[in-house]
Amino acid sequence: MSQLSTRHLLGIKDLTPEDIQLILDTAANFKEVINRPIKKVPSLRDITIANVFFENSTRTRLSFELAEKRLSADVINFSSANSSVKKGETLVDTVNNILSMKVDMVVMRHSSPGAPHFLSRNVKANIVNAGDGTHEHPTQALLDSFSIREKLGDLAGKKVAIIGDILHSRVALSNIFCLQKMGAEVMVCGPITLLPKHIASLGVKVELDVKKALEWCDVANVLRIQLERQQIKYFPSLREYSLYYGINKKLLDQLDKEIVVMHPGPINRGVELSSDVADSDHSIILEQVQNGVAVRMAVLYLLAGVKG
Ligand code: CP
Repeated sequence: MSQLSTRHLLGIKDLTPEDIQLILDTAANFKEVINRPIKKVPSLRDITIANVFFENSTRTRLSFELAEKRLSADVINFSSANSSVKKGETLVDTVNNILSMKVDMVVMRHSSPGAPHFLSRNVKANIVNAGDGTHEHPTQALLDSFSIREKLGDLAGKKVAIIGDILHSRVALSNIFCLQKMGAEVMVCGPITLLPKHIASLGVKVELDVKKALEWCDVANVLRIQLERQQIKYFPSLREYSLYYGINKKLLDQLDKEIVVMHPGPINRGVELSSDVADSDHSIILEQVQNGVAVRMAVLYLLAGVKG
């Protein structure tokens, strides 16, 4: 297979296992390219891409921009914070104005779940979801799977525990879909108040005890406590969260095996993850960031090859 089954990347839910395999294999080729002295290829020379961000981002925005430039695309960046959205312009009007400048692809982050899906029905460009509210973050899940595959080999049969604020996490849902489609086993772990009520119906194991989750898994993907999305108190204090759910070196030293620790970033150091783990040999956090560029190059390159 050399083509994706879709012309947009809206969520992992819509991808086939073959699509995911193709993206990961293509990313492996691009990773080799970006480690060469000349890191640029002409693949998207005639393509213009708009990065449209209605929500804050460091990693995803920079990673997409670098991926686009490595592929020789023309790039424009839009951030809602200093735009005419502040004067009341709608999402479709904003994007159609950008598209009238002959833009071929839109990479969008938005705080509303489903915003990129809505856009894909209303504009002609290829749409890439760079995170829609608490729904999906497909390129994060793809780069997470790529990083696990690179570290441990084939994803099939691997045990991945996603630990932390599952309720508010788009990374969790995309990772669950991606890992399951590739044959991995998934567990979610966190305080009961931060686990969605029907999460077990997705076929994941549910664990409240972080020690048991760490004993079970090959990989712990630790998620950020998303205070900005929490309108009520889900646990008594950050200190108490850290005491019961924070991953620290003492916990890892109690295990009779080595596990891989991941985090999508940004990290609340000392809350969900201690610095002596984040900066240790267990951690592949910076490899995840590095792999993000190759994975996003693969996504953009493959989408550009799918005719609408
Ligand atoms: N992992 C991630 O999406 O980080 P940013 O919010 O900085 O893009």
